[in-house]
Amino acid sequence: MAKNTPSFALSEQEALARFDEIIAADERIEPSDWMPDAYRKTLIRQISQHAHSEIIGMQPEGNWITRAPSLKRKAILMAKVQDEAGHGLYLYSAAQTLGIGRDQMTEDLISGKAKYSSIFNYHTPTWADIGSIGWLVDGAAICNQVPLCRASYGPYGRAMVRICKEESFHQRQGFEILLHLSRGSKAQHDMAQESVNRWYAPALMMFGPPDAQSPNSAQSMAWKIKRFSNDDLRQRFVDMIVPQSEVLGLTLPDRAIRWNEKRGHFDYGDLDWDEFNEVLKGRGPANSIRLERRKQAHDDGAWVREAAAAYAARENKEAMAS
Ligand SMILES: [Fe+2]
Ligand SMILES: [Fe+2]
Repeated sequence: MAKNTPSFALSEQEALARFDEIIAADERIEPSDWMPDAYRKTLIRQISQHAHSEIIGMQPEGNWITRAPSLKRKAILMAKVQDEAGHGLYLYSAAQTLGIGRDQMTEDLISGKAKYSSIFNYHTPTWADIGSIGWLVDGAAICNQVPLCRASYGPYGRAMVRICKEESFHQRQGFEILLHLSRGSKAQHDMAQESVNRWYAPALMMFGPPDAQSPNSAQSMAWKIKRFSNDDLRQRFVDMIVPQSEVLGLTLPDRAIRWNEKRGHFDYGDLDWDEFNEVLKGRGPANSIRLERRKQAHDDGAWVREAAAAYAARENKEAMAS
């Protein structure tokens, strides 16, 4: 079949063969290309979950904007939270190219049908939590997302390029907050340590269940959406944060951490997957608060959507009349 034959002129078998060729050649699938239904569905699920996580993730940090300890910290945190809103918007747009509407995605989130990263269902009681989120949560997000810049679906991979640049700024600002606290008074140092104690394990669980319990991973890897397994990414993250924790002068709450000469990686302890599953099922510390707040924000914004729709309708009418 000719390489430039449009998708609609191909039989399903030819279209699938072309899809496989594009994947094998490490090229990109674009919105107008034919793609298997399961590939489309997997992407819609993954990209919309990712978008929801960015938007819900604004809440635990937005909580600290008015209480940040200085004007400088306030300005930095505000910029960071705005970045997360932007990430949500790029990702919703990328998902829309697959044929799902923004209203539908919002409805799925608010009704509890769609998932988002379980990490955002934990509370942020101290200022040090803003440091821990930046260092550990954005740090884990970077490990997860840098390989997604090469995802086989074009709009997703391209959205990730800018997102990753911003995530590395987020990670550094979190590290810098913790460094500052760690080198401050004893009370500040203790606050930083207490916060890292709470965030360490949930951050490791952000990579998802162990490979043996992650049935969809193999297919996602074959489609080159995912490039590395959950456990490989988790290991990469542990290898990154152990030396960083030494620079911070903070201890990771895991006695099993030690350098394994043979593997060339740090060993680490088992994680409490029962807790992870509880949070995932909606029974984490802040699940209901997060969804209620999101629903409230959506309801409060109804007049903006109505006004925008009325304005667009008027513009259209005027354009038709002229
Ligand atoms: Fe983000
Ligand atoms: Fe971030």
